[in-house]
Amino acid sequence: MDWSKLKSAAEAATTRRIEDLLDAPRADGFAVSALDMRFDYSKTTMNEDDRALLVEMYEASGVPARREAMFSGEKINETEGRAVLHTALRNLDGGPVMVDGADVMPGVLETLSRMEAFAEGIRDGSIAAPGGHRFTDVVNIGIGGSDLGPAMATQALSPYADGPRCHFVSNVDGAHIYDVLDTLEPSSTLVIVASKTFTTIETMMNAETARAWLAKTVGAEKAGAHFAALSSATDKTAAFGIDPARVFGFEDWVGGRYSMWGPIGLSLMIAIGAEAFRAFLRGAEAMDRHFRAAQPLENMPVMLALVGLWHRQGCGYPTRAVLPYEQRLARLPAYLQQLEMESNGKSVAMDGAPLPVASGPVVWGEPGTNGQHAFYQLIHQGTSVIPCEFMVGAESHHPELAHQHRLLIANCLAQSQALLKGRSFEEAQALMDKAGFEGAERDRQARHRVFPGNRPSTTLTYPKLTPEILGQIVALYEHRVFVEGVMLGINSFDQWGVELGKELAKSLEPLVAGEGDAGDVDASTAALLGYLRTHG
Ligand code: F6P
Repeated sequence: MDWSKLKSAAEAATTRRIEDLLDAPRADGFAVSALDMRFDYSKTTMNEDDRALLVEMYEASGVPARREAMFSGEKINETEGRAVLHTALRNLDGGPVMVDGADVMPGVLETLSRMEAFAEGIRDGSIAAPGGHRFTDVVNIGIGGSDLGPAMATQALSPYADGPRCHFVSNVDGAHIYDVLDTLEPSSTLVIVASKTFTTIETMMNAETARAWLAKTVGAEKAGAHFAALSSATDKTAAFGIDPARVFGFEDWVGGRYSMWGPIGLSLMIAIGAEAFRAFLRGAEAMDRHFRAAQPLENMPVMLALVGLWHRQGCGYPTRAVLPYEQRLARLPAYLQQLEMESNGKSVAMDGAPLPVASGPVVWGEPGTNGQHAFYQLIHQGTSVIPCEFMVGAESHHPELAHQHRLLIANCLAQSQALLKGRSFEEAQALMDKAGFEGAERDRQARHRVFPGNRPSTTLTYPKLTPEILGQIVALYEHRVFVEGVMLGINSFDQWGVELGKELAKSLEPLVAGEGDAGDVDASTAALLGYLRTHG
């Protein structure tokens, strides 16, 4: 792929004011409506020619063929020799999906029914702890993709939660599991060990801690009946002592960060019930169908991706902020950090050659309006340009607080408007005149109140954060990552970059315990170890 045309186009755009481009036809034409949502990208510097160039690049990079290869079970994760079929987990109305000549759908649907029977049994109390205690609390122990998805979605869909309380423990920092277990009663707690590989050290250590905590109260023999597992490694779940009837497996074609649609979503299903979980799957399934069928300009994931490429690879902005005006999406930025940065944070293309262009951006964010009172200062007046991805729903779940929701929406729109318009020196001078400043002092004060404006943003709007809408939003972002990854020539489905640190942690652990020879460690790490050992 030749990225030079995109860079030249973005260079030419630096002299352009978005406000000069923006009129009613642009507001209409630089937006995509799909399913229940609307994605507005009119507040960017991209003009029609730039957009046509991006679409041309999209077509030249063969995304549609690669997309069909993904949906039809080809092994597009070439460095791990795996198919990529998280979409099969929500293919409720679709046909067969073949991997190695076999249809995976009967297995997917059978696991879904087993999950539903288990989740509903926990919810209605027919599946109880030994001694008949109803499970009132569920602790999901997992990390990365085995935590972020269900944790984010359970918080997002809390208005639909009418089952046991769900808690999430991920960090190997003992403080995490301590704080969660400290509030719970072992005899009515179900522990779900969520780990695709069942080898992740943090998860296994936390699972052992939970088992010891249970054993202390309910006895070692009964502790096993408080566990369930979500994993592809059924030999390892058996070795841990978990009843196979409570193990929900999935295949190696489900990547960790794409896994909440299947067994990894069990805690969410227990919280909101099987029916609402199906609505979540249906939202994602609808986005899958849209992604496969719509032409580029009407295709929401494609346009979200092209805007992303415009900002990162074209304009060179190194980060993008995700700013949900939806408190219950507080964990969405963290979820998207894994989805986007573990998928597209690579330096080599599929064939091993260095990438000719920057890889995916740093993704970060916080819900509005909180962020406004923290880091928005830099977004408005700092020297870096940070494309902002706003999102907001038309309606909240609390009609009695509709006035608060109106203010929330007004803030979301105000921020993108402020980024667009800014405030000129002359306008700031007039303000300072009114405030009674004069001469050089007026100008000095005015300079601090100038906003450059012309800062790009997009806004995703949706009716209300229901299970179905959340499914649409998450699938939208998954496909955005896919399109960006294919256009960059990256394998978005491996994550070799997380391995080195894991290996080194293993070899450092004995040194932290004061065992072994620190001779091989670098001088800086040896000094840090020295401090921590003498102060520990
Ligand atoms: O270390 C990274 C990673 O492999 C993620 O990709 C994955 O989501 C997470 O660890 C957890 O892995 P597992 O589900 O196998 O415990």
